[in-house]
Amino acid sequence: MKFFVDTAEIDAIAELNDLGMVDGVTTNPSLILKSGRDIIEVTREICELVSGPVSAEVVATKAEDMIAEGRKLAEIAPNITVKLPLTWDGLKACKTLSGEGKMVNVTLCFSANQALLAAKAGATFISPFIGRLDDVNIDGMDLIADIRQIYDNFGFDTQILAASIRTVNHVTQSALIGADVITAPPNVIKSLANHPLTDKGLEQFMSDWAKTGQKIL
Ligand code: E4P
Repeated sequence: MKFFVDTAEIDAIAELNDLGMVDGVTTNPSLILKSGRDIIEVTREICELVSGPVSAEVVATKAEDMIAEGRKLAEIAPNITVKLPLTWDGLKACKTLSGEGKMVNVTLCFSANQALLAAKAGATFISPFIGRLDDVNIDGMDLIADIRQIYDNFGFDTQILAASIRTVNHVTQSALIGADVITAPPNVIKSLANHPLTDKGLEQFMSDWAKTGQKIL
C-alpha cells in the first residue's frame, strides 16, 4: 500500500520523505491556505522533493475552466496529479485531462456510485473521504470496502486513495480492505509508530540497563 502525505508543509514532507515513507503528496485549497504559500510556488517545491504523484486541486467549477486550470497545474512538473471535485463538470474535466495523459485524482467522493463514475471517466485515483463520513455518523470504511468490491468486480484500474484519514485505525482498516493508497496528515503517519506496550517495554529495559552499570559506547 502506498503512503501519500496530506499536507503542503515542506518540512513535514521532507522529514517523512527522508525515511522513505512518502510515495506521493495530496494538497487541497484548505491545506494551501494553512501553509500560507503561493500554490504554484509551494507545489513546485513539493514536486522537486517527492518523485511520486503530487495532487494539486483546481478551484474552478465549470468543466472548461477546470480543464484550463488543470493544464496550468500540470505544467508545474511531470508528477503533478490534477485534483478535480466529483461533480458532473469535474467528471467531464477528468475525461478530457486523463485523455491527454495527465494523472487525475477525483476528490470529495462520498458514494460508491460516484466512484463508479470516476473510474468510467478515466480517473487515476478516486478519493473517498472516510473521516468526513464518520463525522456524519456514516461508517467511512464501508465505502472503501464497497468501492474495492466494485472496482474488482469489473477490473477498473482506478486506484482507491483512502482520504480524510484521521486515525491510525483508518489506516489499518484501509490496508485490510485493500485500498491502493492512503493519504494522511504527517501526525497520523508518525503516530503509526506508537504503541503503549513499546513505551512500557522500553522503560523497563532502560531501567534494568541502568542497574547493570554497563555502557555500549
Ligand atoms: C484528500 O485529498 C484531502 O486533502 C484530505 O484527506 C481531506 O481530509 P480532511 O477531511 O481531514 O480535511
